Amino acid sequence: MKKNKSTRQIIFALLISVASGAQINAQVAKDTSSSKDLVNALHAAFGEHHARAVHSKGVILEGTFTPSKDAAAITKAFHLQKQSSKVIVRFSDFTGIPDIPDNSGAANPRGLGIKFIMPDGRTTDIISHSFNGFPTATSDEFRQLLIAIGESGPDAPKPNAVDKFLATHPVAKKFLTTQHIPASYATIDYFGVNTFQFTNSKGKTHYIRYQLINEAGDNFLTAEQSAKQGANYLIDEIKQRIAKSAVKFKLYAQIAEAGDDTNNPSVAWPDARKKVLLGEIIVTTLSNNTMQEDKAFVINPGNVPDGIAIADDMLKIRAGAYPISVKERQ
Ligand code: HEM
Repeated sequence: MKKNKSTRQIIFALLISVASGAQINAQVAKDTSSSKDLVNALHAAFGEHHARAVHSKGVILEGTFTPSKDAAAITKAFHLQKQSSKVIVRFSDFTGIPDIPDNSGAANPRGLGIKFIMPDGRTTDIISHSFNGFPTATSDEFRQLLIAIGESGPDAPKPNAVDKFLATHPVAKKFLTTQHIPASYATIDYFGVNTFQFTNSKGKTHYIRYQLINEAGDNFLTAEQSAKQGANYLIDEIKQRIAKSAVKFKLYAQIAEAGDDTNNPSVAWPDARKKVLLGEIIVTTLSNNTMQEDKAFVINPGNVPDGIAIADDMLKIRAGAYPISVKERQ
């Protein structure tokens, strides 16, 4: 059954005041949900709009990626050797609501999806968002949260399903209530959150998580500034910015140490962990941003070359979920 929830209903559910009560740390459990279950849960939360099931609203730009001299030491992946690649990037807002106002708190975290295109046509993708962590440890729990959002419209009696979920999931509560409204897609950092295994040409391996650090400097809006912005201010801002100068991000691999949990994206690894600079992304051009182009931009965290492997359970579910959404949104 197709649902079309209103923007108001969803934003209400996401921005609810959180019920107080005993807080229990989430248990890491084995996933039983399928990729299709997760896509259905995204629709239950945000409605089905024949758009991306989540991060539906976005803007596409193009540029280049140049690998650092240190990248090849930790992976033999083709885009992290000497040659530069073309990149297509898509900045986006959270939720599956295609017209979510950019200044809504529910539009956090912002997304940054990157497709690397080598001169010989080979591609690989990195997908990140502007929070160093995930609301839940597992895909099953993420599905429960999405279903709770779907059940928590403005008319639901309090405490509603989201209140109850957040009362027992402090990490999800932090995720939904502590993020700030950015001044620009270019003035925030983005995080890969899930874990990949890098293998170099000698067979040595590392567990890593991606970080994309902005070179413009962090910049967020106050509540008053945010309230004065138009619904598309982030898209307008990036168009104006790119007409004047390039938007740059440094791509890092944060390296896990023994004892770091590689299978729980809700826990960020300590900041003190070594970060290897993988290269620099320089975004220079706005794409046409036709509806056709937005539909044709297809990325998947499972699109990885030799030298990079999926290393956590959520990535397996994600790799199956993205193509389902792509098919549904054509
Ligand atoms: C179980 C966890 C997750 C599921 C089931 C999931 C599912 C999806 C789906 C179905 C799409 C739409 C794909 C399309 O139609 O092209 C999507 C897009 C996206 N997701 Fe996820 N996702 C998950 C976790 C994450 C995480 C951890 C991040 C960030 C680190 C993330 C960032 C994004 C972004 C930025 C997009 C937009 C990609 C674009 O611009 O085309 N997702 N996700």
